[in-house]
Amino acid sequence: MTETASEKVDFETLVAQRRSTRGYKPDPVSRELMEEIIEIAKRAPSSMNTQPWHFHAVTGAPLELIREGNTERMMAGAKVDREIKMSDHGYQGVHRDRQVEIAVQLFEAMGIERHDKERRQDWVMRGFRQFDAPVSVVVTMDKELADDTVAHFDVGAATYGLVLAATSKGLGCVINGQGIMQSAVVREHANIPEDQVIMTCVAMGWPDPDFVANHVVSRRSPNEDVVDFVGFDD
Ligand SMILES: Cc1cc2nc3c(=O)[nH]c(=O)nc-3n(C[C@H](O)[C@H](O)[C@H](O)COP(=O)(O)O)c2cc1C
Repeated sequence: MTETASEKVDFETLVAQRRSTRGYKPDPVSRELMEEIIEIAKRAPSSMNTQPWHFHAVTGAPLELIREGNTERMMAGAKVDREIKMSDHGYQGVHRDRQVEIAVQLFEAMGIERHDKERRQDWVMRGFRQFDAPVSVVVTMDKELADDTVAHFDVGAATYGLVLAATSKGLGCVINGQGIMQSAVVREHANIPEDQVIMTCVAMGWPDPDFVANHVVSRRSPNEDVVDFVGFDD
């Protein structure tokens, strides 16, 4: 799809068709289209309409510098330098199972064998490079609310809005925690102001239909595992 040829689809179809895109055409995305997408994302609800989010759309030379710096530092064994917290023991139990499941699906699609260290490493490096997407939107929030987890919820809502808006325009996206693993690099080249915290980045661009991992459909737990009905008839 191109900037002029995106088809309108209903919400359910849009949600069902969206998947994380990890292979892109090199074609640029215009500033006008990015403005439109961010305009839609900003319609997300937020606690008391505080709108704690900011979006830094980065392309061209600054994005290349971010890719290089992030990859260099990660490959040199630097400690992960994120501005948001993750558990220091990694995912465990059912969360680990789901993490492994999607990795297996992606590696199977790509034909990457379990013991193929080189290709596994190459895959990880693609993540550090934000899958060579032509645009990265660095999503930040006001530092003043950094310890307010309600505000994190708001930023998450806006980020999904961003992803759905981009998808509705025919773009592909992946929310990409790997892209901000060296947040100091991102901060420098994307000119992030001191009073904002880097939450994540969203790589986006025109999807490459020949990149097989783009067609992987991730699984979801059935409702009986994640939903409780209380006070319904049955
Ligand atoms: C906060 C967050 C960070 C993510 N970081 C990465 C990442 O660093 N690399 C990656 O390949 N995918 C990343 N993803 C994408 C998830 O792997 C993906 O959403 C999940 O496996 C479900 O697949 P789907 O988006 O295709 O439905 C991230 C998603 C979220 C929400």
